[in-house]
Amino acid sequence: MKTIGVLISGRGSNLQALIDAQARGELGGTIGIVFSNVESAPGLERARRAGIPVAFRDHRGRSREAFDAEGVAILQGHGVELVCLAGYLRLLSPVFVRGFPGRILNIHPSLLPAFPGLHAQRQALEHGVKVSGATVHLVDDHLDAGPIVAQEAVRVLATDDEESLSARILEAEHRIYPPAVRAMLEGRLSQAARRVVVEEA
Ligand code: GRF
Repeated sequence: MKTIGVLISGRGSNLQALIDAQARGELGGTIGIVFSNVESAPGLERARRAGIPVAFRDHRGRSREAFDAEGVAILQGHGVELVCLAGYLRLLSPVFVRGFPGRILNIHPSLLPAFPGLHAQRQALEHGVKVSGATVHLVDDHLDAGPIVAQEAVRVLATDDEESLSARILEAEHRIYPPAVRAMLEGRLSQAARRVVVEEA
């Protein structure tokens, strides 16, 4: 079984979706470590409940490169082969990306390349799009910009506010992230330039 490292900063509902998929035998790997830059992140408790080792490091007062180098060392020390960002509110430096080349996934609450960055759901509402959604993508040196692995569209309703739209997009996130992780771990992704093709299981 390949080892996954999950990086979080907060609630950890996507982490939970990965934990639940693993429990069902549908993740294609084992979560070996959950790393957080926020000590009080509720997601850490989810990991502990599932018996997964956790690591916390405070990024404050440290250079991005030094902090990321330590993160890479911790993950590699746990034998991590695939890194999953799940609400990790830190930009990764090239130091981190080089530590796991082509082996970092992120989940984002919009149909990228629309609305990268923070508050993607609010951005979608303010722009007035009729469809938004969730994206799983490979991580490169640029924010929310790497090749797209999976997406699910979510309709924006006339009655939506940020909270209701975020809740429906989150359900889509939880549906698409575990199968994308599994496809990657099972070697079912192939890539030509930016285009990633996922072979069916
Ligand atoms: C999710 O909307 C994810 O797409 C974004 O941050 C949020 C994290 O939520 N990157 P959770 O911590 O997984 O519940």
